[in-house]
Amino acid sequence: MAQIQLRAQRTPARDSRPAAGRSRVRPTYAAVDLDALAHNLHVVTAAAGGAPVLAVVKADGYGHGAAAVAQRLEAEGAFGFGVALAEEALALRALGVRRPIVILNGVHGAAHAEIVDARLTPVVYDPGEVEAFARAVACRRDERPFGLHLKIDTGMARLGAFGQTLDATLRAIEQSPGVFLEGVLTHLATADTDRDFALEQLVRFELSLATIRARGHRPRWVHASNSAATLMLPEARYDLVRPGIALYGYGAGPAPTVARLRPALRVCTEVVALRDLPAGAPVGYDCTFTTRRPSRIATLPVGYADGVRRAASNRGVVLIEGRRCPIAGRVSMDLLSIDVTDAPSVHVGSEAVLIGEQGGARIEANEVASWADTTAYEVLTGVSVRVPRVYLGAAGPSAPAG
Ligand SMILES: Cc1ncc(COP(=O)(O)O)c(C=O)c1O
Repeated sequence: MAQIQLRAQRTPARDSRPAAGRSRVRPTYAAVDLDALAHNLHVVTAAAGGAPVLAVVKADGYGHGAAAVAQRLEAEGAFGFGVALAEEALALRALGVRRPIVILNGVHGAAHAEIVDARLTPVVYDPGEVEAFARAVACRRDERPFGLHLKIDTGMARLGAFGQTLDATLRAIEQSPGVFLEGVLTHLATADTDRDFALEQLVRFELSLATIRARGHRPRWVHASNSAATLMLPEARYDLVRPGIALYGYGAGPAPTVARLRPALRVCTEVVALRDLPAGAPVGYDCTFTTRRPSRIATLPVGYADGVRRAASNRGVVLIEGRRCPIAGRVSMDLLSIDVTDAPSVHVGSEAVLIGEQGGARIEANEVASWADTTAYEVLTGVSVRVPRVYLGAAGPSAPAG
């Protein structure tokens, strides 16, 4: 991903476009507000009763740029970081992140030695993985015991040990000098949509924890809470919480808490062409939009290759001059046509906001998601690598949100 660290100061609300980004690259960029991330970390920590936060920064920090997100949240006091993949964890460590990094999906390649060397924390859920780590540890001179987190499948039915696999995985840990059970986790399928099912999962988790403890293990870190559970299900809090989406400013939870979260991503570009068309003129591929009146159509240099959902064709809006202006016709790979007939002051160079605020109006990732029958998760992680990330806000820690 192209990353541009342009300035340490927040720019004025009206136009947060860093001047250098405007002149050197195409005008499309994603501004990541690091102060908003820090603020959200403090909101989430307060909602979790002060529990340590393992900030989930997989998928390049939900599209915000894992390196910058992790560095800022580390400075703000995050306990550690959760990623999906070994390569994400290795990249963060290589960048100098010192806090614990948990590889939540486990390790599916052959990077066990590198993971041990980098003192990362793999999740395991089968005996073969435990043995692979035990072999990697045995080959190293490092005498320190190597911690593993054991994932329990309590109802998500994707990854995790249960029944005989749980027994076999525990036996492998018990028979492997050099590794120990540092943590136990599960993942909830319905923390935001079905509290009863989430509680059922926690009952199964408790049964597994009882088995684990009865065999003499004393895991230091038991964890189960994604964002929704962190904000709504204190029963799932255990020793640390594991939020992702809430840190980026979205998610489900009690209205006052959700209202305090600040979306951290703003995706913008600018008008590169304008044309006046008579009534009855077609616009874009397949002519799916025809002007009903004399119309002004603006062209934006952004398209589905940047992450604009094609399903937003003739459905979505962008903000220009503080107005919600409709997408006219098909979203194409690199370009977007916007009906700006009702925004007469629009000119070539006018800023267009695809996600974020402008002039008091706002488009959130949830709304963008609704045009494509998807979620804010997919919208945020879908802003493509072609869109440069520009970081706003202080590089160091800020005062906790009041
Ligand atoms: C294992 C695990 N924990 C925590 C999270 C964070 O979830 P959320 O972004 O809903 O907070 C995820 C994300 O999918 C995950 O896979």
